[in-house]
Amino acid sequence: LARGVREPDLAGRHVVVSAGGTREPLDPVRFLGNRSSGKQGYALARTAAARGARVTLIAANTTLPDPAGVDVVPVGTAVQMREAVLKHAADADAVVMAAAVADFRPETYAAGKIKKQDGQEPAPIVLVRNPDILAEISQSRSHPAQVVVGFAAETDDVLANGRAKLARKGCDLLVVNEVGERRTFGSEENEAVVLGADGSETAVPHGPKENLAETVWDLVTRRLE
Ligand code: CTP
Ligand code: CA
Repeated sequence: LARGVREPDLAGRHVVVSAGGTREPLDPVRFLGNRSSGKQGYALARTAAARGARVTLIAANTTLPDPAGVDVVPVGTAVQMREAVLKHAADADAVVMAAAVADFRPETYAAGKIKKQDGQEPAPIVLVRNPDILAEISQSRSHPAQVVVGFAAETDDVLANGRAKLARKGCDLLVVNEVGERRTFGSEENEAVVLGADGSETAVPHGPKENLAETVWDLVTRRLE
């Protein structure tokens, strides 16, 4: 094969990828959000399509152009993402949760813009837990051979936290990367370790997010065989 041309080893497969970051609204103009750009998820979608897969990309609040030949499903909140992922995962061979899903959402949504009151302290924002989509997908697979992949951004004890998270979620693979204020978010590059439920550990050196995406699909393909 020519350099840069991939064997279509995902031909006939359907993969679901989530990307971006959910936003949890407080009122019509405000939300709780995070810094995820969606670039890693888009790289996963692009590379899977290039390898022949039918790709459904569940995109939360991204501003990136739709990848060619990919079915893009826009969502806003974690609850909306859960619905979309569960729906499209029903016939998927693999589900990759690259999105940053908010762990909490405001308990109440104000239908009108929240106003400040003269001489009054602001009311506290009460949060409630969001559903854990990755754990739910891992524990209720639509078929036993479905491969489920999570992503984890950690700031400390990266590998130990990653191993514990992999076990807790029950997924097959967990891509762990170290983050900090100037690392990963919004950048074009990435560096990670992919942990497998089988005990495997695949290091992906610092490089374009496409490289990490290709490694993820290599590992997924092997598990689909
Ligand atoms: N995830 C999810 N649903 C959530 C939260 C996270 O599906 N409500 C997924 C993310 O898409 C990611 C993986 O779980 O693939 C790990 O996310 P992370 O935030 O690292 O895990 P948490 O279990 O939320 O742990 P932490 O308390 O460290 O945030
Ligand atoms: Ca979290």
